[in-house]
Amino acid sequence: MEVIISAMRLAAKDIVSLELVSATGEALPAFEAGSHIDVHLPNGLIRQYSLWNSPEERSRYCIGVLKDPASRGGSRAVHEDLRVGQIVRISEPRNLFKLDEGASRSLLFAGGIGITPILCMAQRLAQQGKNFELHYSSRAAERAAFVKRLEQSAFAQQVHFHFDDGAADQKLDLASILEKEGEHTHLYVCGPTGFMDYVLGSARTADWQEERLHREYFAAVPAMKADDGSFEVRIQSSGQVLQIPADKTVVQVLDAAGIMVPVSCEQGICGTCVTRVIDGEPDHRDYFLTPAEQAKNDQFTPCCSRAKSACLVLDL
Ligand code: FES
Repeated sequence: MEVIISAMRLAAKDIVSLELVSATGEALPAFEAGSHIDVHLPNGLIRQYSLWNSPEERSRYCIGVLKDPASRGGSRAVHEDLRVGQIVRISEPRNLFKLDEGASRSLLFAGGIGITPILCMAQRLAQQGKNFELHYSSRAAERAAFVKRLEQSAFAQQVHFHFDDGAADQKLDLASILEKEGEHTHLYVCGPTGFMDYVLGSARTADWQEERLHREYFAAVPAMKADDGSFEVRIQSSGQVLQIPADKTVVQVLDAAGIMVPVSCEQGICGTCVTRVIDGEPDHRDYFLTPAEQAKNDQFTPCCSRAKSACLVLDL
């Protein structure tokens, strides 16, 4: 659908916040906390951004975008090419980071720009009068977006800021936070990969069950490894066999052979490309499937995952 950029402002150092409203004046499709939209950028790239505003609002979608120095063109295009008044194409909101609204208590962890879906969740939980606590970690206060909004919110007492360059007594003490929680608390985390691995790893070490851990990666580490080899994929319907060289993804080879697999993030985050595996063992490189789903080896993300076996038979 088409929307108009109605406001754009700097939310913190290198973070711009955009407000998108309907181009026709109609209410926008409803969304749930944790949802994201695909934004079609002027340079042809499609990027996913979480909605940070309250799901009760039907007149606007708000996103926050960090200008990433390692940008592959997406965040730079948002910062440099988009302006107020411009029309952009977006997808309807999709939710891959759902809140378990039946949980008796929720613990929300945000690292840096990962605050966007977490802020949306906090507003939803507060509106429902739910028991929750939010921990927001950032390298420095000037790099943390929405601080004033959080400080002035009705749930300000439930928000804890942790700045890397701040005093020792405000640093994130994860072990003691996790230790105080009961066995029904659900944990949500979004942020840089290292931060998320730290939070999820600490919870797993403290015996939190996987069903209580919810995460959304917004930037993946490169999926290619220096020692990647080649392997084959066989297309079940046609019997066609394709060679995947070390420097190409399965999606790239399929695409060149005229076999279309829908993709969006191409980083193993969104799950758009998930394909059923009939035989062979994938080498999972994604952040979308849970460890239990990956262990079944009956599906994989061909945009980034590879093979441990010599051949993968795909249900295509
Ligand atoms: Fe997003 Fe493959 S396209 S996981």
